[in-house]
Amino acid sequence: MSKLFATKPLSVLLSESSSDHGLRRSLSALNLTTLGIGAVIGAGIFVLTGQAAAQYAGPAIVISFLISGFACLFAGLCYAEFASMIPISGSAYTYAYATMGEFVAWIIGWDLILEYLFAASTVSVGWSGYVVSFLKDFGIIIPAQFTAALGTVLVDIPQIGWKAITPELTKSLADSGIAIDSLPHLSAILNLPAMFIVAATTILLLVGIRESAKFNNVMVIIKVFVILLFIGIGFMFVNKANWQPFIPENTGEWGHYGWSGIFRGAAVIFFAYIGFDAVSTAAQEAKNPKRDMPIGILGSLGISTILYVLVAIVLTGIVSYTFLNVADPIAVGVDAMGPGLFWLRPIIKIAAIAGLSSVILVMLLGQPRIFFSMSKDGLLPPIFSKIHPRFKTPYVSTLITGFVALILAGVLPINILGELVSIGTLLAFAIVCIGIIILRVKRPDIPRSFKTPFVPLVPILGAGICILQMLSLPWETWARLIVWMALGFVIYFVYGIRKSRLRDK
Ligand code: ALA
Repeated sequence: MSKLFATKPLSVLLSESSSDHGLRRSLSALNLTTLGIGAVIGAGIFVLTGQAAAQYAGPAIVISFLISGFACLFAGLCYAEFASMIPISGSAYTYAYATMGEFVAWIIGWDLILEYLFAASTVSVGWSGYVVSFLKDFGIIIPAQFTAALGTVLVDIPQIGWKAITPELTKSLADSGIAIDSLPHLSAILNLPAMFIVAATTILLLVGIRESAKFNNVMVIIKVFVILLFIGIGFMFVNKANWQPFIPENTGEWGHYGWSGIFRGAAVIFFAYIGFDAVSTAAQEAKNPKRDMPIGILGSLGISTILYVLVAIVLTGIVSYTFLNVADPIAVGVDAMGPGLFWLRPIIKIAAIAGLSSVILVMLLGQPRIFFSMSKDGLLPPIFSKIHPRFKTPYVSTLITGFVALILAGVLPINILGELVSIGTLLAFAIVCIGIIILRVKRPDIPRSFKTPFVPLVPILGAGICILQMLSLPWETWARLIVWMALGFVIYFVYGIRKSRLRDK
């Protein structure tokens, strides 16, 4: 029992962070901030915003963004304190090891796979959707059976093309007098574009952290520039009538407009904020982690929040929220600005593709670094911490991560993946918040270059909001989380507990 709750001494952690671990220290504060923005701005804003506004919150999706942003800010402040104190690439896994013991650390490490590896697969599926549509604009058609998850039934809708059958789609076709059974159907085999982007990104990550950071910087510049362009031009087309009513009246059902809709919108939109914590996995590759980690984490979170709120204000101002239940809401916004701005359409698609590429990159960069730390501690086999002699990257764990993410991206649908990512991340955030309180009590003496303000209020609010958001997710997602965790328990008790290096120290 005492083994399970043994914590890793901070002195050991600190000496590990300063010793030569084989990784290359090349990231500046700016690199870390762009890494965070790279991981954050993606499918959430380019895909989910419209659906959340149309179905749950209306124009008040702006408030949903603020609520979710605040929850992330509380967690982000806690991450920043930990990352400045224990700059080790294991992120929340390492923080839990220092505060709550080996067993909780393992749980978090295992749970973080849901955040990073599964997010990479989720966003690759979104990437595939945008790329298929972009190529189609140029007359390049990828056969439909290779563009969706195994077994997904697709239907060919005139003028639109192949779409996965959902109850909403069946209903909207029926409303326009089209019987779905009368249209051509097929069953998908694999999502090949999604698998392609995972493979290509994995190769880039194998080659080096500097190369990966450079690619990420270019993608971030493209997506932020285009988002600013959309906001700037969009403001001129705002019709204030679209913001009325700002909070549409609740339909009588929880979560459908009104304040409950705003909260449900916040839970859905949480996905858009995931990723700022990925900065902490690059701690051992940062030039000056103690100073720059908090800048990277909080800077990327702040910039993303401002952009999100502005996009939400503009988007719901130029087009009625009722038209936004689509996979490409920003493109719908551009259409509403009139034919004079049609040139902006392909640019928006390029920005979305660039944005999603950088999210995949940073998620696939974070995961192997967490495996690296877990393997150094003995909880995973030593092969996971092998560093490539020339590229200085954790190449074996990068390959394993890429391979698993590639299979998941090829065979699983986006909604199952996305909800697992959200629940896994919320759990990690809640534990990090609680960890801050524990470490303030247990080790008040350790120098912290960044301190979370108003402890214990901020961590309590952070953990509380995360737990509330977890509770708002469907029970099927909870069931999948429980199965995943049970698998983790088995691996720990069969392998980790016996091989842990903690007792050698
Ligand atoms: N926050 C990331 C996205 O929206 C995961 O794609």
